[in-house]
Formats: sequence, structure tokens, C-alpha cells
Amino acid sequence: MVRITLVRGDITAEKADAIVNAANSSLLGGGGVDGAIHRRGGPEILAACEDLRRSHYGKGLPTGRAVATTAGRLAAEHVIHTVGPVWSRDEDRSQLLASCYRESLRVADELGARTVAFPAISTGIYGWPMDDGARIAVETVRATRTEVQEVRFVLFDAAAYAVFEAALGASS
Ligand code: AR6
Repeated sequence: MVRITLVRGDITAEKADAIVNAANSSLLGGGGVDGAIHRRGGPEILAACEDLRRSHYGKGLPTGRAVATTAGRLAAEHVIHTVGPVWSRDEDRSQLLASCYRESLRVADELGARTVAFPAISTGIYGWPMDDGARIAVETVRATRTEVQEVRFVLFDAAAYAVFEAALGASS
């Protein structure tokens, strides 16, 4: 079974086989985790994303899907880009958020990755409440069959870390 660990910090510094990017459909960069990954990883990542847009995703990567590129200058081997749903009060998009974690792990398996670092997808610019985002993240990873041995949630601040700690306790 996959081991879940929590770390407080900046995901771009993680040494893991793969780190997951909370991207948008364009794959061409943005703010938050996405901006940090492209800034620190260098232009190789953007060039790989542009290639993917040309070859496979003319209309962009759909929400809930995931795709891998080089990690450029980052310490990780690969970046797995996934597109979280924007939070909605009127519509339940939890399945799309769960899909981001499942699909990222599927891509990680294709890469042969054994350690994968995730941010709290959709809980920043996309507005998802942290407690619900943490619950979905933990439950989905626990329910997914994967060869990945360690999933590391990298939380930016103490508050997010505490919420993930509680979610981990609640689902064990
Ligand atoms: N390391 C770890 N966590 C971080 C970091 C970091 N360097 N930076 C932010 N967080 P977000 P989203 C936390 O906004 O909500 C971009 O413009 C942050 O506090 O990065 O999925 C994309 O291009 C929050 O808890 O991703 C999309 O347009 C979590 O990571 C859009 O934002 C996710 O915040 C995606 O929004």
C-alpha cells in the first residue's frame, strides 16, 4: 500500500521521482505552484508543454487529466501536470478533483516513479476549501491502486499542513 507523508514547504524544492503541477488547461504556465515550477525549472518545461499542445492537446488538457514532462532544472525527475477544477458552490466537482490524483498516479506508474510529491490541487487560485480538498486528496490516494510507494503532500503553510494531518487521521 502507498505510504502517505506530509511535508511543509515549497514543492519546487522536493527531491522526488515526480512532482505534480497544479496547472491549467493551456499548460502554458500561470501563478501559484505552476508559476513557481516554470520559474525554477526553466524554459525546458515550457518547451515540452508547447510540444504537448501541438501534438496531443490542441484544445488544452481537460480538467481532471494529467500528463508528464521533463522537470528541467528541478531536483525531481519529472513534472506531472494536472488540471484541477475551479471550486463551485453550485456544482459538485469532487470527482474531477479526485480524478487529478488518480490520473497523476496513473501517469506516475507509466513513468515508473516510486515517490511522487503533490501540492493541494485546486486549493489556491481555484478556490477549493482546504478541508474538503485535503479529504479528497487523502481518500483518493488511499483508494488508488498504484506502484508508487510514497505520496508526499507538500503543503505551503502551517494551516494547510494541519488540515492535511487531520484528514490523514480521519481516514485511517
Ligand atoms: N509549493 C507548494 N504549495 C504551493 C506553492 C509551492 N511553491 N505555491 C502555492 N502553493 P495554486 P490551484 C499552494 O493556486 O488552486 C495557476 O495560475 C497554495 O497555497 O498553485 O490548483 C495555474 O496556472 C494552494 O494551497 O493551484 C492555474 O490557473 C495550493 O498550493 C491555477 O493557478 C494550490 O494553489 C490553479 O489553481
